[in-house]
Amino acid sequence: MLTEARRRELSALLQPVAPPRQLDALYTEEQKRRMLDVIHDKGDWKLIIAQHFPTAESLIATFAGGFPEGFEPTLDMFLTPTFRGFFANYSATLYPELHDLFYNERFLAYARSYWGAEYAKPQMMLFNINGPCGNKDPGHLDSPSFRGVRYENAPTWLCSIMGRSGLFQDYLIKMAQVITWFSHDPYSGFTYWPKGPLEAPERLASPVYNRGVLVQNEMMVHRGEACGPLDRQNPQGLGFDSVFTGAAGDPDGWVVKTDGREIARYHTDDLRFLVHWSSEVFMDYAELKKNMDGSDDLTFDRVFDTLIKDVRSRGMEIATPTDPISDPAFIKALNDAYDYGGPAEYPAEAPRDQVFADAV
Ligand SMILES: [Fe+2]
Repeated sequence: MLTEARRRELSALLQPVAPPRQLDALYTEEQKRRMLDVIHDKGDWKLIIAQHFPTAESLIATFAGGFPEGFEPTLDMFLTPTFRGFFANYSATLYPELHDLFYNERFLAYARSYWGAEYAKPQMMLFNINGPCGNKDPGHLDSPSFRGVRYENAPTWLCSIMGRSGLFQDYLIKMAQVITWFSHDPYSGFTYWPKGPLEAPERLASPVYNRGVLVQNEMMVHRGEACGPLDRQNPQGLGFDSVFTGAAGDPDGWVVKTDGREIARYHTDDLRFLVHWSSEVFMDYAELKKNMDGSDDLTFDRVFDTLIKDVRSRGMEIATPTDPISDPAFIKALNDAYDYGGPAEYPAEAPRDQVFADAV
């Protein structure tokens, strides 16, 4: 456990460039339908966790704290029926029918104004979709990217620790996201900690339907809250290989399947559908050029070297790993070294006991 002063220092690093802005009426009904049609017809879609985290350590590294001493978390404890897919990635639209939603002029203007920057380009667009769903997330950061070490070529846990360490700020890719929800749930909002996770949270209050936030979610701890009736939040038979897809012949029908067997069925009105639009931002032409020409990139060796030296300089022990990318002991040591200790406070309307409610 780090000292209080050090945890406060780490917490203070985690502040977005500007306070989140709440936004309304982000998509038209027709645009929403086009997105849902892609999800309905182009699945199956996997669980978020199954796509992004091969091991418990790598998952836990993105959470930093939140576990009592001696508590051994396993991946099962994070299993919730929430699914993800990509509409666009690597600045390309993966479904031509969604081109105008990705190369979205209004959203690009938001991204530039959030940073006061000259240039922005769309980078990625994904969706999270679920019916009633528990929340086991104490609060997390999205995976940041750095020049040379990006979410595209590095594991989530490494990008996360690089962001939390504050050691690579000069290389951070500036980003802005427009996150939009379509949910009729009266209780499910969005909690975020704009002044750092050890300071007071704020909340986008429910219901959140075609509303959202303009944010820098790589540098701000946040979480979606639980949604839907408690008795439907954990469908029987949910596993890592469960998938989400449209019900045949019913554009407003949705099913969760495990090994081809239907374990849950929802109507569109039961869904919480989140659209995450993300752009890279460049303050000026010099920064744009530097980001694209590779003239000022980090290397993995330099990153590991910098982290190991920093940890040792703080009087903590860390063994030099032979395979730093996938050595669980190394990942855990780094995680502990940059652990701000979990959010200190939760909103009264969305208490912490949503978290791990059925896991401990
Ligand atoms: Fe996130």
